[in-house]
Amino acid sequence: MRKRCAKAPFQGASTALKIIRRIADFESPPDAKVGFVPTMGAFHEGHLELMRRAKGECGYCVVSLFVNPLQFGPNEDFSRYPRREETDLEMARSIGVNAVLSPSAEEMYAGIQTKVMIGGISELWEGELRPGHFDGVVTVVAKLFNIVRPHMAYFGEKDFQQCAVISKMAEDLNFRITLRFVETVREQDGLAMSSRNAYLDPANRTKAPQLYKSLLEAAGRIRTHPNDSAAIGEILESVRQTLTDTGFDVDYFALVDSRTLQPIERAGEYSRLIAAAKLGSTRLIDNVPL
Ligand code: PAF
Repeated sequence: MRKRCAKAPFQGASTALKIIRRIADFESPPDAKVGFVPTMGAFHEGHLELMRRAKGECGYCVVSLFVNPLQFGPNEDFSRYPRREETDLEMARSIGVNAVLSPSAEEMYAGIQTKVMIGGISELWEGELRPGHFDGVVTVVAKLFNIVRPHMAYFGEKDFQQCAVISKMAEDLNFRITLRFVETVREQDGLAMSSRNAYLDPANRTKAPQLYKSLLEAAGRIRTHPNDSAAIGEILESVRQTLTDTGFDVDYFALVDSRTLQPIERAGEYSRLIAAAKLGSTRLIDNVPL
């Protein structure tokens, strides 16, 4: 099993961290190369890895910390989404982040009459199950790109469809920003790190790594029959059944073309397995390449 394990979160360089709460106050040094990490806070090692990459590749690292109301559906977890700004700031400081932008929802959205809408690639999977979610994501990311004007921006591959959607938005709207998609960071037992893992009760936390195990198992079995669509269909069905038997309520478990997110029947160069499933009230998503 391929694992990227947590380092101690508070290790590392200390730097004078600027905390900016009003959009008008944001500015980066004129000659700095800016690496940007958009986040909704509740940092874990996955976020810290994005910050390390941004800092290492660009030198000046800006992180936004904003729980974006626009990307949550009416019955989703906006109000209970973990918020722990003090700890987040301390963790950002330990990585050597230069500035954290933490605007208010009022300033971001009061009186807003313009939203970014994205079709195509955003309409499947997460987009189908969470109507409006990706419009909320691309709207906030476009606004943040315009405020921060980074050279490079960093996103985690755990949200694989989000990476594809943001990439399309940036291409369609001509953002001159290099996007970096960084490999998922995992707990020791393989569970993809996510701020929402904090919702798992102890019994479900024990079951949760099965999602990644099932993805790896399916990927291994598909690799032995890459052109056999009937066998691939059976493999997907059997791992889905394993997940159901473990207690997951599976939203999707699919083989897709990573460029379009369209389901595919045979595996090839661009294949990816993507999955989303609920354990109790906690929804987990994950993916692996083939
Ligand atoms: O992945 C996230 O945390 C959010 O969707 C993002 C990209 C910060 C936009 O709010």
